[in-house]
Order: sequence, then structure tokens, then C-alpha cells
Amino acid sequence: MKRVFSGVQPTGNIHIGNYLGALKQFVELQNDQECLYCIVDLHSITLPQDPKELRSHTLDVAALYWAVGIDPKKSIIFVQSDVPGHSELAWILTCNAYTGELSRMTQFKDKSRGQESAPAGLFTYPILMAADILLYDTDIVPVGNDQKQHIELCRDIAIRVNNKHKGTFTVPDGRFLKEGARVMALDEPDKKMSKSAENAFSRISLLDDDNKIKKSIMRATTDSDGIIKYNPSEKSGISNLLTIYSAFTGVSIESLEKKYDGCGYGDFKKDLVEAAVTALKPIREQFNEIRHSQELIDALKNGAERANAISEKTMKRVKENFGLGI
Ligand code: TYM
Repeated sequence: MKRVFSGVQPTGNIHIGNYLGALKQFVELQNDQECLYCIVDLHSITLPQDPKELRSHTLDVAALYWAVGIDPKKSIIFVQSDVPGHSELAWILTCNAYTGELSRMTQFKDKSRGQESAPAGLFTYPILMAADILLYDTDIVPVGNDQKQHIELCRDIAIRVNNKHKGTFTVPDGRFLKEGARVMALDEPDKKMSKSAENAFSRISLLDDDNKIKKSIMRATTDSDGIIKYNPSEKSGISNLLTIYSAFTGVSIESLEKKYDGCGYGDFKKDLVEAAVTALKPIREQFNEIRHSQELIDALKNGAERANAISEKTMKRVKENFGLGI
């Protein structure tokens, strides 16, 4: 059995990109592997957060984990700040990372653009992410494509430390899906779908009602040639919709192209609305049932206990290998 770790930031507006790129994998993996799924609240405070909203978003993500099918009896679901090992290991890794490699991270460049002085946490963010992963001797990290560079950095740091202190870390591998690893914005299909984009119709959030789902898809940017063909460089809008359709239904893009050969975008979009509504409705219903339940809090407390037990073992080994403590 391999160990799996991944995380989602509790920053609101969890969308179908997060679902199709990451959460769907989380569910698939839990039957055969030992899985830890974290709500990474310490990552969220790299940018200013309202404390009440942050806590509420943390519980939203926990309830969404459950609602999409992550079973707390099979997987460990927990909140990052409930396990002190994350911050402790992050410092040790910070001393084994270089400013040069951190300044090459595209996500840092994007998020700090235009700011005269960016928060230091935004700069060291990938180190905390490496700590999350290495703390649990993780083998597999299921994520969307946008995290590829961070996973590479995590591997580099692990290998670097192992070269100095043999056998300290397990070197993890990223896991990316063929369809869904990079869902694009509906209004600007050359950009990644994101939680923070100002236009709410640029994304479909997992908790959107049927009407909002319909509007977002019917308004989605396409092109003027009217041919349903997958070609991301020249037909980014329709290619993104084909990806979403395929990821929701499991029907391959090639089969969808055949099915909609000669049809207009309007008919295609109507069917996609139905596929999305059908997939998201049960998630929303399950979310509403558990979001304010004691069961959810109990699952997170139990998850934190189990995560702490694993992390303490790793921290003992790491400290021993580095000569820390007595
Ligand atoms: P976050 O919270 O931005 O996103 C959560 C997951 O969703 C994926 N994702 C997407 N996949 C496809 N299309 C998109 N448009 C899209 N947008 C987001 C992300 O790749 C991610 O898998 N740094 C991470 C959180 C994190 C983490 C970790 C992940 C912290 N520590 C350790 C794995 C392991 C992040 O900000 O994800």
C-alpha cells in the first residue's frame, strides 16, 4: 500500500477545476492506498484572511471532501494547523532550500506581481508544501498541473537532504490526470480557472445552483467556426468545454467529437449543462447535510490525531538525522 497526501486551500469558491483536477483523484485513490487529505489553512494566510471567514472556509472544504466521496473512515481528513509538525518541518526545509529556486516559482511570480514587497510567506510557500508532503513519507501526490513545479521542488529538497542525511525522506511522485489536470476559465479559456477571479461566471463552484451552472456554461467563450473539435492552441474555449464534459462523464474526448460532429455549440452546451448539473447536485445535497454536523468536527479531530501520530514519528527521525534536540 502506498501513502497518498494532498491538500486544498480554504480560500472559498472551490470549483470544478479543483474537483476534476484533484478531488476526483482523492476519491479514486482511497480504496487501495493509505490517504491523507489536508485542509491547508496555513497556506491560506500567505495572503490576508478574515479569521471568521477562514474558519468557515476550512469547514466548507472539509464538508466538500466528504460530499465528493472522501470517506473519513477510509481516509484521514484533517486541518494543517492542527498538526504542529508541518510548521516545524517547514523551518528545517527552509534551511535546505535556496532563494534562487524559490524565486523561479511561477506561482510566486504571479501572486507577487505588481507588489513592491511581497509577504515572505508567499515566497516560502512551496517549502511549507514540501513539508506537508515529506512529513508523512508520502509516495503519491494527486494534484492539478499547476502544482507540478512545486512537486519538483519538493523532490529536489528531499533528494538534497537525503544526500546529506541518508534515508531521511521518501521522495514523492506527483499524480496528474489526463483529463481535468488543467481546467481553464470559462470566460478567458487561455487562463486557469481560479477561486479568486473577479467574474463568478469564469468558474463553476461546487456549490453553485443549477441556474448559475447553466448560465456559466451557456455564456462560456467559444469561437466563431462552430466546429466541435479538440485543439487547445487554436480553439481553447471549446477544447476546455470538451475536457470538462469528458472529465464529468468519463466519455473520451474523441467519442464526444464524433457524437457532436455536425452539431452546433448550443446543443453541445445544453448537454454539458445537464452533465454538470447531474454530477454536482448530489455533492451539494451531501454538503448541506453534513456542513454543520458534529460528525464533521469529530472526523477532523480524529483525523488530526491520526495525522499527528504519523508526523511525530517522522519528526523524531528528522531531528535525529539533523542532530536537533537532545
Ligand atoms: P489549491 O487550493 O489552489 O488547489 C487545490 C487542488 O486543485 C487543483 N487545481 C486545479 N486543477 C485543474 N484545473 C484547475 N483550474 C485547477 N485549479 C486548482 C490544484 O492543482 C490542487 O491540486 N498548493 C496547493 C495546496 C497544497 C498542497 C500541499 C497540495 C498545500 N500543500 C501538499 C498537495 C500537497 C494549492 O494551492 O492548491
